[in-house]
Amino acid sequence: MHHCTYCDAQSAKWSGRCDQCGKWGTLIEQEETVVPALKPLKNKAAAPTSARLFDLEQTRRPERLSTGDPEVDRVLGGGLVPGSLTLISGEPGIGKSTLVTSLAGNISQKDKPVLYISGEESAHQLAQRFSRLAASLEHINFLEPYPIESLISAIEKEKPGLAIIDSVQTLNSLEMDSPAGSPNLVRYATSLLLDLAKRTDIPILLIGQVTKDGSVAGPKMLEHLVDVVLSIEGDPQHLYRLLRASKNRFGSTDEVGVFAMTQNGLQAVANPSARFLEERVNVPGSVITALAEGSRVFLVEIQALVEKTAYGNPIRRASGFDQNRLQMLSAILSKHAGLKLGERDIYINVIGGLTVKEPAADLAVCAAILSAEKGVIGQAATVLVGEVGLGGEIRSVPYLERRLTEAQRFGLEHAIVPKHQKTPTKLEVKIVKTIKDLL
Ligand code: TYD
Ligand code: MG
Repeated sequence: MHHCTYCDAQSAKWSGRCDQCGKWGTLIEQEETVVPALKPLKNKAAAPTSARLFDLEQTRRPERLSTGDPEVDRVLGGGLVPGSLTLISGEPGIGKSTLVTSLAGNISQKDKPVLYISGEESAHQLAQRFSRLAASLEHINFLEPYPIESLISAIEKEKPGLAIIDSVQTLNSLEMDSPAGSPNLVRYATSLLLDLAKRTDIPILLIGQVTKDGSVAGPKMLEHLVDVVLSIEGDPQHLYRLLRASKNRFGSTDEVGVFAMTQNGLQAVANPSARFLEERVNVPGSVITALAEGSRVFLVEIQALVEKTAYGNPIRRASGFDQNRLQMLSAILSKHAGLKLGERDIYINVIGGLTVKEPAADLAVCAAILSAEKGVIGQAATVLVGEVGLGGEIRSVPYLERRLTEAQRFGLEHAIVPKHQKTPTKLEVKIVKTIKDLL
């Protein structure tokens, strides 16, 4: 058997590219585990007594630990749950260590110090980061990454208010002779930590690097083990980061937090729409859409550039938007809006380094391409929302009212939206039924 070190998918034969997640060079061979044949039980096992779930719930209603950052607390659903194991995942350089450093500073107290286990940085480097972020390091205890079994004993003995491990890929083991970062070891260490958290009620933050080359085990394969996965998304080269609970055993996975990476670490952005649109100029190819992320809605600028193809096949390239979806929307525009895009290169860019996954942005992407191709600017102060179907029809999207409310709050005046929607706002609303209505 072969298995993917990035997404943990199994496949019988080796291939250069994982069928499941599409990553290259991540498949490794794995020995097959031999399952022992079932034997009839010799002795009857003692029967445990069940308890009423209601009573269990009454006796143990966990009080959450605030991280000291309202935005992070909101994403977690009200803070860290005692005894929970939270995986913080993201690309290298995205800000994982920065985030946990400031949380550690907030949470640590004299009688409840934070234990910071760092295999990524020395004590000196870590102390410097605390000072740079103006985070208090007075009640932070530091440990180098000893083998996981020793770390478990240390955490059990010290009983910190919070334990941080940066990162899971640097851990090794006394019991298992797999190299640090290998899938088996990462999984083994994580399950020991999960068990420890449950036994001691100590919350644990575990950092997991998402690796692009897949040479070490990615956090994807840990997601089913841990209680909460906080992922930090964005482009390390850009200012903005989205913090999302992509899994949460104790709350919703809807909430996102918007942060900016500043000199003083990650700072919550109070008014994301204003920040994303602050440098916008109304030129051909630039339009505004409204994204709905959990209870949050924010406006972002989408830009298109359309150029005559110099040679060969026309290019369709997107940054922050799905490449395949762009291909599809371009085909729809050719077929149903009469645009001649066969010899046109199309580039799409979502401003701020954000990644747009919602189909609700389709209409805006189409409008941006249209505006760029025709060289005309759209009506100023207009928001566009709608999913575009293969027949060129514009389909309704969830949370339309909330999106329009945000557009109105921000001072936009016009909206272009799909049919069949009630839109009780002060915006002047234009209904579009097909992509042709944009012309
Ligand atoms: P880091 O948290 O080390 O990333 P990760 O642990 O996810 O690999 O931070 C990455 C980048 O953030 C680093 O290139 C420097 C930058 N940074 C700031 O801009 N401001 C700061 O206050 C800090 C600590 C880092
Ligand atoms: Mg780091």
